[in-house]
Amino acid sequence: MTVPIAIIGTGIAGLSAAHALHKAGHAVHLFDKSRGSGGRMSSTRSEAGALDLGAQYFTARDRRFVDEVQHWQAKGWASEWEPHLYNHKNGQLTPSPDEQIRWVGSPRMSAITRGLLEHLTVTFTCRITDLIRGEKHWHLQDADGKDHGPFSHVIVATPAPQATALLASAPKLASAAAGVKMDPTWAVALAFETALDTKMDGCFVQDSPLDWLARNSSKPLRDNQPDTWVLHATSAWSRQNLDLSKEAVIEQLHGAFAELMHVAIPAPIFTQAHRWLYARPAAAHEWGALADADLGLYACGDWCLSGRVEGAWLSGQEAARRLLEHLE
Ligand code: FAD
Ligand code: NAI
Repeated sequence: MTVPIAIIGTGIAGLSAAHALHKAGHAVHLFDKSRGSGGRMSSTRSEAGALDLGAQYFTARDRRFVDEVQHWQAKGWASEWEPHLYNHKNGQLTPSPDEQIRWVGSPRMSAITRGLLEHLTVTFTCRITDLIRGEKHWHLQDADGKDHGPFSHVIVATPAPQATALLASAPKLASAAAGVKMDPTWAVALAFETALDTKMDGCFVQDSPLDWLARNSSKPLRDNQPDTWVLHATSAWSRQNLDLSKEAVIEQLHGAFAELMHVAIPAPIFTQAHRWLYARPAAAHEWGALADADLGLYACGDWCLSGRVEGAWLSGQEAARRLLEHLE
């Protein structure tokens, strides 16, 4: 019997690594503490329809990722989003069109990681708390004290603060992860019965508690939902208001939205708030992935490259490449 490789995290980094290893003929077993896949690239089901509260869209600049996204598009998991973009600066709202190609999951962001999970073994609602190295193999322990294993290698594909403890058997890797600061983001969704009187689908915001807003319902295959908007607060505002109640966050960000939109904003028929504690790495790195090849322990995630979907996917590829290289 072949001993599988364990991957902790079913965000895009973990699934990228899983796919590369599966393609190379290795058995993988993924674990995630959540009920579904996607991590920061997931969507929330709500009474206003599926909402992308984390990653809003992604761009593809590296040739390898461009090819991968084309594959997702062919599978029907991703579509191009062509928003009417605006910019908000010094109290002025101005259209800000550009030529950039932007992608989203269709009909929701989580469709991509859901598609990638096909044919892979995964255990959800399972928070891994310890990695134990035996003579030859690894075992994982979860928060309920249950043992999982044996595994030949382990890839930790969680945000850096959650990776640090899991990497304790490789102090160099643990200390690199511990040095990565990740900033929070408060996200709020609002739905309106009558569509707001604006052409805007997305807006880059300066000089406000907000730094981004998007008309979720303008993304492909979401036209069965009411006029839904997703607002993201800046890292600074989110940090200052980390422990504010969800009700207060909704009230304040709704107020900031109304102030900058310059159109009448009716009372929303639906509101939701979500706090992303580890939303984005404060700085980019050029690690690709972290590896202790002798131990068979690897780490990947957006924090090893750029804090974007593309960076996370490339990091997963790099972790798999380094693992396979060591097997040769
Ligand atoms: P994650 O998606 O965080 O995946 C890690 C997974 O590990 C999670 O599913 C988590 O549940 C699981 N996990 C953690 N600890 C454990 C444990 N102990 N045991 C088991 N499972 C565990 N990027 C863009 O390119 N464009 C954008 O517009 C954009 N907007 C964003 C907006 C917000 C609000 C946020 C939060 C992020 C945004 N990003 C955006 C960044 C992008 O979402 C991330 O870079 C990318 O999704 C990170 O993927 P990942 O696999 O590295 O990590
Ligand atoms: P991109 O090229 O569309 O945007 C990069 C940056 O360029 C934007 O943040 C914006 O400042 C500027 N920009 C781009 N197009 C613009 C336009 N038409 N008008 C005015 N400004 C424009 O996408 P890329 O490089 O893939 O970045 C992803 C996005 O994800 C960024 O906006 C980033 O801020 C956001 N992000 C948000 C996180 C969060 O926690 N809120 C975490 C990680 C990424």
